[in-house]
Amino acid sequence: MKTLRFVVAVAGAVAAGVVLAQSGADVVKAKGCLNCHDVSEKKVGPSYKELAAKYKGDAKAGGMLAAKLKEGKAHPKVAASDAEIKAAVDYVLSQK
Ligand code: HEC
Repeated sequence: MKTLRFVVAVAGAVAAGVVLAQSGADVVKAKGCLNCHDVSEKKVGPSYKELAAKYKGDAKAGGMLAAKLKEGKAHPKVAASDAEIKAAVDYVLSQK
């Protein structure tokens, strides 16, 4: 019984960590993206809805945008891990 409880606790902690690291909605808040972007209003940068519409149907957009944010080329450099950037970009592109 003790072992089972341990396994459940570890699985729970791992699941919570994954959710934290991968929730794009959390990343855009935590990494300051929302200082320059809004989901539906244009601010310093384009709104996320506008970007999702612009890249709709472009299967390569996710990878291209993640690389752009990571390298900080033609975009303010972003201090986030690869997984966080990917989650943020997926979140941006999923806005409707
Ligand atoms: C200091 C302001 C600023 C911050 C912070 C910022 N952005 Fe931007 N972002 C811009 C501006 C300005 C543009 C439009 C020019 C461009 O495309 O680079 C833009 C464009 C984009 C684009 C579209 C790029 C393209 O090629 O069409 C995406 C996607 C994006 N931002 C995502 C993010 C994410 C995710 C974050 C946080 C991790 C973030 N931005 C943080 C200012 C910012």
